[in-house]
Amino acid sequence: MKAKKAVSLFMTAALTAAALTGCGGGRGREEAVQTANAPAAVEETAEAESVEEAEPADAEEGAGTTSAGGGIVGVALPWLGTQNWAEAEVMFKEQLEAAGYEAIIQAADQKVPQQQQQIESMIENGAQVIVVGPVDGSQLGSVLEKAKDAGVYVIGYDRLLENTTGVDGVVQFGSVKTGELQAQALLQGLEELKGEAPYNIELFGGGPADPNAPNFFTGAMSVLQPLIDDGTLVVVSGQTDFTQCATVDWDNAKAQSRMDALLAGNYSDIEIDGVLSPNDGIARAIITSCENAGQPIPVVSGLDAENESVEWVWSGRQYSTVAKPTNALVAETVSIIDSLISGNGMPETDVTANNGVIDVPVYELPPVVVTKDNAKEVFADDPDRLALLTD
Ligand code: BGC
Repeated sequence: MKAKKAVSLFMTAALTAAALTGCGGGRGREEAVQTANAPAAVEETAEAESVEEAEPADAEEGAGTTSAGGGIVGVALPWLGTQNWAEAEVMFKEQLEAAGYEAIIQAADQKVPQQQQQIESMIENGAQVIVVGPVDGSQLGSVLEKAKDAGVYVIGYDRLLENTTGVDGVVQFGSVKTGELQAQALLQGLEELKGEAPYNIELFGGGPADPNAPNFFTGAMSVLQPLIDDGTLVVVSGQTDFTQCATVDWDNAKAQSRMDALLAGNYSDIEIDGVLSPNDGIARAIITSCENAGQPIPVVSGLDAENESVEWVWSGRQYSTVAKPTNALVAETVSIIDSLISGNGMPETDVTANNGVIDVPVYELPPVVVTKDNAKEVFADDPDRLALLTD
């Protein structure tokens, strides 16, 4: 075991050194040169070379030994529980391999320690760039500092990486904008389907550890709060703070239980007209709860354009979703990786987000709202989703 560890240390040092010369490489080049040339690493190299001949590293630890030419890229995803993350796992593999990189892709099942350990092992296996969709935006500080010290570039994917200097940029769809679109669609649906105001509504937020969730909620409330204040919208439960409305771990079952309780406690003799939902899974849970309670289906927003919700939007069961195409976000990330690995650094951007410690460059794509009216247009270039829009 000790010998294999030596192999991976050797590989890390060798790859870092190679990255510095041939194909560009990680951040902190000077620090990385020092690491690669440090006496300890040289000793490990001598040991590792003989070990390598005698006993090839196993598949996992050998990840650093078979670079496809372009370099090694780690991708740490928070979970695979919503369609966007499951798509990201597949699309990163396809797009990174097509671009000539070796991809190490792992998902953390919503568990912070698991994700820390996965990132740690990507560093050990010689990743030159690590892409991270954090389980908890603020809990990766020390492992990302470690990546930075090892000369590895770190890119936040879809979610901001908070409270750390170990992040070079974030690629995401505008998160406050997403919330604004959700709220605007909710209002549009209420006017279209629920007659005259006032409208009875409830509010849901996403997982509180995910930095997107408060942003989605803030964006939505910037649209809804003035209408709550003037009485157009009535939040019958009175629950309007993010902390009251959040859904731990984006867990659909928890959202459904909360909706059941809201209906039982507040709507025994009135109808609910609309619900702000932060994503599609939670939207379907809310709608199911209302159906079970014998309520007419309320106007419900969503996010992700998940297949099942695209069908529900088309059939009128869910009013809206917001499309944030995973293939475009992955392609944008891969183009930044190309720039980093070819030695050109982070591309320019005018947008930054303060992560509590530094201003992080943000590469932002526009989210697009989807209702039955524009679904065919939005998915014109997405044959899989287009195929779901059948009468
Ligand atoms: C993503 C959403 C997703 C949610 C739950 C958010 O950070 O932006 O697309 O639905 O996480 O996985």
